[in-house]
Formats: sequence, structure tokens, C-alpha cells
Amino acid sequence: MSERLEDIAIAMVANGKGLLAADESSGTIKKRFDTIGLESTADSRRDYREMLFRSDDAMKNCISGVILYDETIRQNAKDGTPLVQLLKANGSIPGIKVDAGAKDLAAFPGETITEGLDGLRDRLAEYYKLGARFAKWRGVISISDTLPTWGAVKQNAQALARYASLCQEAGIVPIVEPEVLMDGKPGTHSIERCYEVTDLVLRTVFAELYDARVVLEGMILKPNMIIDGKNARKASVEQVAEMTVRVLKSTVPSAVPGIAFLSGGQSDEEATAHLSAMNAAHDLPWKLTFSYGRALQAAALSAWNGKSENVAAGQRAFAHRAKMNSLAATGGWKKDLEKAA
Ligand code: 13P
Repeated sequence: MSERLEDIAIAMVANGKGLLAADESSGTIKKRFDTIGLESTADSRRDYREMLFRSDDAMKNCISGVILYDETIRQNAKDGTPLVQLLKANGSIPGIKVDAGAKDLAAFPGETITEGLDGLRDRLAEYYKLGARFAKWRGVISISDTLPTWGAVKQNAQALARYASLCQEAGIVPIVEPEVLMDGKPGTHSIERCYEVTDLVLRTVFAELYDARVVLEGMILKPNMIIDGKNARKASVEQVAEMTVRVLKSTVPSAVPGIAFLSGGQSDEEATAHLSAMNAAHDLPWKLTFSYGRALQAAALSAWNGKSENVAAGQRAFAHRAKMNSLAATGGWKKDLEKAA
């Protein structure tokens, strides 16, 4: 494969393919395992992720790349094969989460700043050697009647831009992820409020990327969809799709090759239906695909349930969601395909 940033970015959003976000930090994966009563250990995390990465057909046909966590990019499968090699054998590009998490932002109650810039140049050089060709950094934007503040939006956008330029220097495609929360507190905001906040956030992020000399052709944007809060969900699929495409068209330059959404707490089927509706009904200047964590993994985690005898069932559940989202990435998903399975 060519190593130009532009070519890697295009491969990440290849037709009918999207990204698997499997970069849960140790704290987050523990929360996921708690839902099936499984202890989170290095081995149980390995077994779970190995199950996903060995879903050969789904990986080959639907997944362009996988976002890994620091532990996973260094981990071997049970038979000693590096997990990174499993991904490459299935044609997936290895990626790496490089932020160190969202921490309370001093002087801004209720808002966070993402840490991890110090020493990032050296860490990126090491991750490149370990095989990573793209990276992820997530800035978190709270939303309520009074939040976010301009100060928090600005500081998170600056951090994303500094991260992105360091990635490109290292030959790594940055996924720029400014997430306006859907399931934060109180989670009762309207879809119009989500539009207004996301519009401001994306404008600010692209202004900072420009000032930081980030090459737009060599990055991927990972935004939230325009959707009402988790505790006030009522917008239709068509409304989410229309407003999301509208905000993206008015803020994201067409030089960006692709946009890969986070699922953010939407149900599996909602996340798929929204993506498909956007691709089916709109003429778009960039590729629109998925970079889902929960919406790709929830069914597989529950089918697996932490038991080795359920690996095939877990892989079937993962393959189904991957296929549904692959269809959505070209606008070809239909609700009855869910029932058929
Ligand atoms: P979700 O799809 O579960 O929101 O996760 C995607 C992700 O990578 C968040 O940073």
C-alpha cells in the first residue's frame, strides 16, 4: 500500500467500508464487560478483540481500519500472532487512539479538555513503528441550555489541531473527533440546539486546522450526527439525516476525503438507518461512513457473553452489524434486512 497520507485517508473511507472503533480505554472496556458480568483482564480483553478481528469475511469486506488502544496494538493473539498482523491479513489498516482522555477543564465547570499533547511526537513515532497509519483524538463538547462555552470550544479545537499536525508530520492520518455529546447531562436538548452547537464547533475546528497548517486531504473528520439528546429523542430518521448533511455541507471543506461518524449512544439500528438515509438521499462532496464503537460491538459482546463456546455466535452478530453498516455507507440498507437476519 502506498504510504501517502492522502492515499491512506482514501482507503479508510473506501466504498462500502468503514472503521471499527475498538479503542476503549481500560476504564471504558471494564464498563462494557460489567454489562455481561465479565472481569476485565489483559486476557479477556485480548480474547474479545481477537474474536472481532478474526471475523474474516466481515473484516475483509466491511472494515477498512480498526482503532486500537495502546495495550491492543502491542498485544498478541492467543497463538502468538500480533493482533496488528491479524488486521493486516484481513486488509484492515491499524489505527491508534492517542489522546489521554477528557479531563475537567480548569475554570470551566461542567466542561472538559482532552489531554495527551505532551510527548505526542515521540509516541506517534513509536506507534508508526508498531504499524499504525492513522490515529484518533476525541474532544468532548458538553451541551445544555448554557453549555458549551466559547472558551471550551476554542481550547478543544486548538488541541485537535495540534494533534492533527503532529500526526501528519509522523506520516499518520489524524481522525479529528470533536464530539458534541448526545448522552451527556441532562441530555434533553433539542435537535435544533445540537445543530447550532455542532455548527459552531465544526467552524472553530476547521479554522484551527487551517491555522495549524493541517493538510485537509490527509485527515478524516469524525463528528456526531445532528440529533436530539438521549433523554429527548424524537426526531425522525429523515430529519437527522437532512440536518446532519446540512451542517456538514456548510462547515466541512470538500478537500476532506471522508467523514466517519461516531455512534454516540444511538441504538445499533438508529446509527445504521441514519447513515444510510444520508447516503441514499444526498449528493455529497466527501465519503460518509461509520467509525462506530458501541453500534458495531454491542450485539457481538452480548452474543459472546465472555464464553469461548460463543465465539462463533459473537462473530455472526458482529458480521451482521458490519454488513448492515457497510450497506448504509452506500445508502443501500433497508429495515427488512435486519428482520431477515
Ligand atoms: P461510539 O461509536 O461508541 O460513540 O464510539 C466511537 C468512538 O470512537 C468514540 O470516541
